[in-house]
Amino acid sequence: MKLAAIKTSLDFTGKDTIVVFLSDDHQKNRTGLYPEGMNTVMGRANLSLIKGKNGEVVFLPLKDAPTLIISGLGKREEITRESLRNSAGAAIDLCKKKRIKKVAVLIPVLERPAESDVVRSIAEGIYLSNYLFTRYKSRSEESQQRLETADLYMENPDLYGALLKEIEIVCENTLLCRDLVNETSDRSNPLAIADEARRLNRMKGVACRVYGKRDLEKMKMGLITAVSRGSSYPPQMVVLRYRGNPRSKKSLAIVGKGITFDSGGLNLKPTGHIEEMRCDMAGAAVCLYTVRAASELRLRKNLYAVFPLCENMLSRNAYRPGDVHISRNGKSVEIGNTDAEGRLILADALSYTESELRPSYIIDIATLTGACLVAFGEIIAAMLSTDDSLVSTVFDAGEETGERLWRMPLYREYQEDIKSDIADIRNVSSNRNAGTIIGATFLKNFVKSTPWAHLDIAGTAWYSKSRGYRPKNATGFGVRLLIEVLKRIPQ
Ligand code: BES
Ligand code: ZN
Ligand code: ZN
Repeated sequence: MKLAAIKTSLDFTGKDTIVVFLSDDHQKNRTGLYPEGMNTVMGRANLSLIKGKNGEVVFLPLKDAPTLIISGLGKREEITRESLRNSAGAAIDLCKKKRIKKVAVLIPVLERPAESDVVRSIAEGIYLSNYLFTRYKSRSEESQQRLETADLYMENPDLYGALLKEIEIVCENTLLCRDLVNETSDRSNPLAIADEARRLNRMKGVACRVYGKRDLEKMKMGLITAVSRGSSYPPQMVVLRYRGNPRSKKSLAIVGKGITFDSGGLNLKPTGHIEEMRCDMAGAAVCLYTVRAASELRLRKNLYAVFPLCENMLSRNAYRPGDVHISRNGKSVEIGNTDAEGRLILADALSYTESELRPSYIIDIATLTGACLVAFGEIIAAMLSTDDSLVSTVFDAGEETGERLWRMPLYREYQEDIKSDIADIRNVSSNRNAGTIIGATFLKNFVKSTPWAHLDIAGTAWYSKSRGYRPKNATGFGVRLLIEVLKRIPQ
């Protein structure tokens, strides 16, 4: 989609549809939200029935005038960047249903948030809600359509052209990430995703290397090879490098879980829990599109992305509960449960990343535990880390982008629960307590000294229903967050 910044004083002749925002006090106090001249746009409409509540959207076709779509902002003092994204998203959802291709959007003038935040949030809300996954629908069955252009009318368009371009890049990569995650596990299989990563070789500053099954065996990645044994697809590990700041020796490495389908393995998932497990490669997809966005943005930072890709299946060759496998760093791991596979492939990937790439910081991102969904629902992700300053960078980036996180502790006492009788460590504890912390505690054993943060996106990567500007199913959660982290991280 194309976003353009246009001067408010330009008129709207020729516009078919105009999106306008109203706060809940608009009856008494319309001036202020829009400059005087703009009120003529609404002059002919009967707004008396419109409450301006947050989430409310009204479609107002007018005679001999453009159609108005009015979206509520709620109480002025409660408007936030996230509520603005949602108000813009609600208007665009209606456009999709009405199959509108082009809209003019009037940016309201507010006291808070700051003007640039208002422009940014509305642009993001528009772009991110303008998404449909219709690859498998016949044309005749498609009831909705995506918007093609949104012209944003504002007071100072000259200030925001570059910002809108940046938003287009980051949001477009978020939508591409959603596509890869929504795609069936048959199509988004380990080989296909590795091919998608290879295509980034063409991008500025990016180099891609893919390790296949034989390579991984030679590299002694005993956990990745164990998890992939039940599948007809060979495991792959993608290593992407983006060099945006060749003069600096510092870099951030992001590591993503790429289970293209998580059946649970021999500890098979039951009906009700298995249907949507193609979402289990969301972490890997986030890594891929974060690199793509960083390159398109020409960020002056160095970034690595490492993601193991494999399928957790059951077959006569599948790895078994009770087996012991040797990880890349030499630790032996007892498999207590084949459904705790994400931490296994990440363990090998993390130790590879730390010792071979020697980055300054490591952030892993994974749909790791159902327990994260129990604790935080679909609203926020869990963050567990040994480094307070990395935590504060990631937390702030979450508040900025609306991809929010909350920290959980990593006290060493939890290590007790993953002791094994026969091996150095076990991949699960013997009870269901503190599942998200136990998962992170396991991973901690595979990072020696690099500042590291683990992000559990089991709840936020995939929605059971649409929420504001994020649609049902894949959300793309993490791309905007990690780009913001990369911008903020000292290098
Ligand atoms: N991929 C799942 C976690 C998950 C659950 C992601 C729901 C998204 C939505 C993970 O591999 C898993 O199965 N974890 C187990 C761990 C358990 C066996 C210790 C879980 O959470 O039940
Ligand atoms: Zn699992
Ligand atoms: Zn999994």
